[in-house]
Amino acid sequence: MTRQVHILPTIPKLIEAATDRTIQILKDAIAQNGIATIALSGGSTPKPLYQALVLADIDWSRLHVFWGDERYVPSDHPESNEKMARQAWLNHIPLPSENIHPVLTNLADPADSAQQYEATIHQICGTTSGDFPAFDLILLGIGDDGHTASLFPHTRSLEVRDRLITVGEKSGQTRITFTFGLINHAHNVLFVLAGEGKRPALKEIFATKSDFHQYPAFAVRPQGNLIWMMDQAAGEGILSMEGVP
Ligand code: 6PG
Repeated sequence: MTRQVHILPTIPKLIEAATDRTIQILKDAIAQNGIATIALSGGSTPKPLYQALVLADIDWSRLHVFWGDERYVPSDHPESNEKMARQAWLNHIPLPSENIHPVLTNLADPADSAQQYEATIHQICGTTSGDFPAFDLILLGIGDDGHTASLFPHTRSLEVRDRLITVGEKSGQTRITFTFGLINHAHNVLFVLAGEGKRPALKEIFATKSDFHQYPAFAVRPQGNLIWMMDQAAGEGILSMEGVP
């Protein structure tokens, strides 16, 4: 694992840097393998990044889009990560519909949805059960509590390492999420975050020792590149911490 930490002066500069890095990673993957796989994060921070990607000069027919986590709500629900990404980005580019792989959130049992999503990932990535495909890029954010994807503090999902996908939960709301097992096999993980509300959790995540049960993002240690991009408000003091970057 290599770790890079980039602190940008403003949110627009953060989004610009994250957009440029995302485009570069996807272009390199397509040039090298003829295909690129990306897993999107939800929440509010990545929306301007997705909007900026509309203008990217990428052969979209080579891209396969997944979600690193999803709220277990209908795809037209205001809280749907799929809905946000489609409205901000995917509806505005010539990406074949068969290259978009949303989480099925209309199954009665979320565990079935997790199993089906895992099967879809294996099928597209050409892996089989027991393997962990290496995504070209997994976009992540963190919550003020240090969660990432839908891996929330002190939940069972944190312990699942032998599956790609598991059922998570946030204060009673069911989620579907990538596991640490899948995240940590990525070629590139890019955290994009902003705001001073993230600072206390970041201090714990960048500490040389921490408890991932309390701050789950601490356990993100991909085999490839770990890239942190944040604005000054979030990143104040991080670069002066021991062992950073
Ligand atoms: C989700 C996200 C989640 C998000 C963080 C940060 O579905 O909510 O995937 O992990 O990245 O909660 O959210 P903000 O970008 O809104 O701060």
